[in-house]
Amino acid sequence: MDELVALCKRRGFIYQSAEIYGGLQGVYDYGPLGVELKNNLKSAWWQSMVYENDDIEGLDASILTKSMILDYSGHTETFTDPMVDCKSCGQRFREDQVPESCAKKDLTEARQFNLMFKTNVGPVDDESSYAYLRPETAQHIFTNFKNVVDSTSRNLPFGIAQIGKAFRNEITPRNFIFRVREFEQMELEYFVAPGDDDAAHSSWVQKRLKWWEKQGVPIETIELYEVPTDELAHYSKKTVDLMYKFPHGLEELEGIANRTDFDLGSHSKKQGELNINAKVKLNKDSNSKLTIKNNDGGMVVPFVIEPSAGVERGMLAVLNEAFTIESLPDNKSRLVLKLKPHLAPIKAAIIPLKKNDKNLVGLAKKIRSTLQELGLGRIILENTGNIGKSYRKQDEIGTPLCITVDFETLEDNSVTLRDRDSMKQVRINIKDLVKIFMEKIK
Ligand code: GAP
Repeated sequence: MDELVALCKRRGFIYQSAEIYGGLQGVYDYGPLGVELKNNLKSAWWQSMVYENDDIEGLDASILTKSMILDYSGHTETFTDPMVDCKSCGQRFREDQVPESCAKKDLTEARQFNLMFKTNVGPVDDESSYAYLRPETAQHIFTNFKNVVDSTSRNLPFGIAQIGKAFRNEITPRNFIFRVREFEQMELEYFVAPGDDDAAHSSWVQKRLKWWEKQGVPIETIELYEVPTDELAHYSKKTVDLMYKFPHGLEELEGIANRTDFDLGSHSKKQGELNINAKVKLNKDSNSKLTIKNNDGGMVVPFVIEPSAGVERGMLAVLNEAFTIESLPDNKSRLVLKLKPHLAPIKAAIIPLKKNDKNLVGLAKKIRSTLQELGLGRIILENTGNIGKSYRKQDEIGTPLCITVDFETLEDNSVTLRDRDSMKQVRINIKDLVKIFMEKIK
C-alpha cells in the first residue's frame, strides 16, 4: 500500500485534500492522472450498463436530498455505526475498529452514530430547512422511478443507472481511498417482476464479475461473500459482496443486493392497495404510487436488484492489480503500471528525440494533434530530450504507447513505437500510425 500511495502522490493520481492546511481526514483530491483514470473507469461502467444493454436508462439526480426521502428509506433511523470513545485519549472509533493502543483501555459503551451529513437549504435555519448530502445515489433513482417510466414507456424488466458522489461521515476513515467520507458510486437499480428477482440477482453477480475482469481485476482475485441474514441491510433479502484482496486485506469492492420491493413500496402512497412484500413505514407524504404495469396487465411494485460499486475502491483494485515491479536483465528493475489501455490516463506519449529541436518538436506536435483528434483519450507531448527517463516515467503512469520522433523520421516518415508491457520497439511509417494506435488502445 505504501508504495502505491507514494506513486499516486508522486505522479499526480491522488492527493490528500487540504494538504497545505494539514489535510482533511477521509477526503482526497484527484490529480491530472487520477481524474483521467477515474473518468475512464466510470465511462467503462456507463458504456457496459447504459449503452451495451438496451433496457437501461441513465440518470443524474441531485446530491442534496430532502430529509423526507431518507426518513421513508430508513436511513434516518438505521444508517448508523456503533461508536465508542477511548476515555484515555479521548478519540472516537467505530466499535469494530478500535486500534490496539486503545483496545485494552477504558472504552465507553457503544452508541449509534448516524453517518449522514446534514445541511441547510435556503436562508432559514430550522427543522423545516434541513436536508442531507446523499449517503447513496440509489434513493433518487427510486423517487424518479415514475418520471423515468412515464418519459421512456419502459416495461419490466428495465434498469436505471447512475454515477455520482455519495457522502458518509465515517467514524474511522482509513486505508487510503478505501474508506472515505466523500466518494463516488456507480449504481444500477434493475427493476423486475416479483418472482423474477432471484434469477436476476444471480445473473447480475455473474455480469459484474465479468466486467471487473475486463477492467484488469481477474475473477480469481474476487471472492463471493453472501452476507448472513442477521447482517443484511434493512432493505435486503439477499446480498452478495464481491470481496477483493486489497493491499490491506480482503474487503468489499461491490455489493449486489436484492432490495425487494422495499424502496418503491416505502416511497409510495396508498401502500395498503399495493400488495407490498417488504415491511415498510406507513407513508403519509408521497403523492405517487411507484408501480408499473406487469405482463398480466395489472399494476405491480417491482422488485429491485442493485449492483452498487465504489469508484474509489475500483480505482484502488485496478491500480493494485496493475502495479508491477519487473526485474530487468542488467540487475535493474522497473516499475510499470500495466493498466488496461482503455483505463490508462495517457494513451500515448509523443517524444521528440532532441528537446526543443524545431523540426522534431513540430512534427511531434502534429502527430499529437492527429491522435488526439481521434477522441480516444489524452495524448501528450513529452519534450524532455531524455528518452530513457521518458520511457520510465510513462511506464510508471501506465501509458501503453510511446512514439519517438527522431532525425530518421524527418527523412523517411518513420517513427519508433514502444510497447509499455513488452518494451519492444518497432519502426513504423507515420501513415500507419492511426490504424495501429486505434487497434492497441481500444
Ligand atoms: N446503495 C447501496 C449501497 O450504498 P453500500 O454497500 O453501502 O451499498 C456500495 O455501498 C459500495 O459503495 C461499496 O461496495 C463500496 O464500493 C462503496 N462505498 C461504500 N462506502 C464507502 C466509503 N466510505 N468509502 C469508499 N467507498 C465506499
